[in-house]
Amino acid sequence: MSDEKLYIVLMGLPARGKSTLAIRLRDAFRRDGISTRIFNNGNLRRIYRPLQETSRSEFYSPKNSAAVELRSGFARMNMEMAKAYLRNSGRVAILDATNAERARRAIIEKYLDDYPLFFIECINDDEDILKLSIQEKINLPEFAHLKDKAATEFLKRIDYYRMIYTPLKVERNYIRIDSLQNMIIEEKHSDAIPFYDRLRDYLVTDEVKNLFLIRHTETEYNVANRIGGDSPLTKKGEAQATALGLFFKKKKVSYIFTSKKRRTIDTAKVICEMQDDCRIISLTEFDEINAGICERMTYEDIEKRLPHVFKRRGANKYHYVYPEGESYETMKPRIIQGVKKAFFLNRRANNIMIIGHQAVNRMILSHFLYRREDDVPYIYIPQDRFYHIVSTQDKKLFELKRYD
Ligand code: F6P
Repeated sequence: MSDEKLYIVLMGLPARGKSTLAIRLRDAFRRDGISTRIFNNGNLRRIYRPLQETSRSEFYSPKNSAAVELRSGFARMNMEMAKAYLRNSGRVAILDATNAERARRAIIEKYLDDYPLFFIECINDDEDILKLSIQEKINLPEFAHLKDKAATEFLKRIDYYRMIYTPLKVERNYIRIDSLQNMIIEEKHSDAIPFYDRLRDYLVTDEVKNLFLIRHTETEYNVANRIGGDSPLTKKGEAQATALGLFFKKKKVSYIFTSKKRRTIDTAKVICEMQDDCRIISLTEFDEINAGICERMTYEDIEKRLPHVFKRRGANKYHYVYPEGESYETMKPRIIQGVKKAFFLNRRANNIMIIGHQAVNRMILSHFLYRREDDVPYIYIPQDRFYHIVSTQDKKLFELKRYD
């Protein structure tokens, strides 16, 4: 067996997905038979200090010298444990902490000098994701006593870290990654890094544990064959939503992503009510294709009143931009952005659901299935079935299932 060993040191402001990434990396290395352990400073802090003290923002003020000393102590403890781990049977030690300050990182590089060391900086400033991540954090028991002050305290903590934050630059080996997009922003290596190809591949892979991709159930506009708009569900649509709710009752769905349109939100509400712990997150990114001047018309109306639109769209559906609206091509970036947000949250939750629209779901599916652009606007999106998608490094699953 090779004796290659590696320290991975995470860095980034709070709520940037570091711990989730640490877990993902650990699990991926372990699956490949490489013994890996995470050394998390926050865990030590929670063990050794009262939660009342460490959940308050003041504990993170750079001016609070007693707390600075305590936090450096936890960092030292983890470095010692990580070193001992690699000296013994461990192969990869992941140090998970903010490590925002250059000085702290210099100490780490100096102390952990027996094996190659690689920094990963997690960057993500998406407002929606930040809000949701902070919400997740403050739901943890350690914040319970702060009640409605929890979010403000957490934001203050982030501001304190921002005061001392310096991005990676002079460190010998690193990757700076957009942790929402899974996109490498910058990389540098001065030393040979064991497992490098594998590590890089883990970082850029979109992992989807279980995605249930559903189209909203029947609406009044569907019956009238009208496009776009914001119409309510029909009685049949409500019954379909109830059938979906019953079907998914046995599975734990943590998040349901919808568009901002009532037909997706109303479908989601019925499903969510039948779950124990479920949140609906409505994103404009998942709104249906904007049909511009054709919104609320039937296809027959368009053919009669706007024959040039009907003809030109029919001839090139993927690229055709509705006057004052969108095409499949122009809506793609926003759909991908929505998908990335959903995946980001799915990194912790096992099951997520997206309740979208016909064109939206076609674009989402084309993210997983290879389809020529010309074929995307014709992917079959029924309302009595849903797609179940798993896409991880070791498993790809894609099925169209009935729910009633
Ligand atoms: O008809 C329902 C609908 O979701 C419309 O709101 C939307 O314009 C249309 O489907 C998209 O499908 P197509 O691209 O085939 O017109």
